Amino acid sequence: MTTDIMSDMKETTTRHRVTLCVTGGVAAYKAADIARRLLDMRLDVKVMMTANAERFVTPLTFEALTGTPVIRASQWPEPGEGPMPHIDIARESKLILVAPATANIISKFANGVADDMMTTTLLASTGNVLMAPAMNTNMYLQPQIQSNIARLKKDGVSFIGPISGELACGVEGVGKLASVEEILHAVKERLNLSYDLAGKKIIVTAGGGREPIDAVRFIGNRSSGKMGIAIARQAFLRGADVTLIAAHCDVPLPEDFTVVRAMTAEETLKEVRERFGDCDILIMAQAVGDYRVMRAPDCKVRTEERMTLELESNPDILAQMGKIKEARILVGFAAQTHNLIPYGREKLKRKNLDMIVINDVSRSDIGFGSESNEVTVLKADGEEITFAKERKDVVAVKLLDLIKSEIDRRIDA
Ligand SMILES: Cc1cc2nc3c(=O)[nH]c(=O)nc-3n(C[C@H](O)[C@H](O)[C@H](O)COP(=O)(O)O)c2cc1C
Repeated sequence: MTTDIMSDMKETTTRHRVTLCVTGGVAAYKAADIARRLLDMRLDVKVMMTANAERFVTPLTFEALTGTPVIRASQWPEPGEGPMPHIDIARESKLILVAPATANIISKFANGVADDMMTTTLLASTGNVLMAPAMNTNMYLQPQIQSNIARLKKDGVSFIGPISGELACGVEGVGKLASVEEILHAVKERLNLSYDLAGKKIIVTAGGGREPIDAVRFIGNRSSGKMGIAIARQAFLRGADVTLIAAHCDVPLPEDFTVVRAMTAEETLKEVRERFGDCDILIMAQAVGDYRVMRAPDCKVRTEERMTLELESNPDILAQMGKIKEARILVGFAAQTHNLIPYGREKLKRKNLDMIVINDVSRSDIGFGSESNEVTVLKADGEEITFAKERKDVVAVKLLDLIKSEIDRRIDA
């Protein structure tokens, strides 16, 4: 699967933002169902309503459904709200869905009218508008409306419907709002969404482990957590039931799915073990500390000229899970500076993994902390796939594609 990526590492939300613009037609009541179904599709839904739409349905309905205030097309920014809400809304929206779209909003948009928040937001958009018109047949077939629709289509605006059927005004003809299913399908296509991991329980570990030296000091590593978080986010967007087990991460943790903190290898082992029996896939992207300090005191030790730390090995979480994995898919990561492939192959086999993702951490442009990664994935069947240098969320999508192929292969086998 390829997807148009917009996961932003600075954000805590993973969901794509859809602004649902509701205008003043009878079909406005169906927008409530559309809003609810968009939420089910794991989208971040914000609703904007024209003053006339509010005569058909109350903003309260949408506020109750989405949990966020409705943006009123008639409102002006209050002091402190930020000077350009229409620009922000347009920029932050992956898609602006106008449903139902009245003859009025279509004509305003086609002619560049910007007399309220909705029309100005539409003008500030950049090729991400989908309109679902609904109106009386005569209104729809009126040459002005037809030429306005043709003009918008030529300018890159997408349309879904209208369809033919019995209209609210009692006549039979074209002008009916496309079905909710058709509208959702169009949204899915526009956003390139796929829910191919729906029903799969996936555990992802991320970040850099920290092993205490004393109450305030620790042994850590440079892992930022970006790669593991990107995988968890993309798996969530594809419908998976995701649990992220996070050690120290340099970026905010997502809020859309379960996140468990585990700083030490022991803590991570405990959290993984607790959930492993009930999961389908474990992806260990966390840089777990290989060693821990023996007898680390729980107070701060006095600073002296020299200090000797005695270390002992941490449990090998992957190897332990490899022994009991049965049909689960187990994916490990190897951060290496040299001998990448031979070491990866050996680790894959020794730990009974299905895949291992090899990172060359000697390069400063990829790996720890950077926004991009270039990895080689070794599979248990001997296949070796290298992903060219890409943003970490793109690498995450490609890795999940490989995992999905493995799931499908096992179903077919
Ligand atoms: C009862 C009633 C039903 C209406 N239904 C529609 C409709 O389905 N489609 C449409 O384009 N206009 C319809 N209109 C006309 C719009 O409400 C009117 O053009 C209004 O100015 C649209 O405002 P808005 O686009 O800012 O929401 C209807 C008007 C009334 C009074």
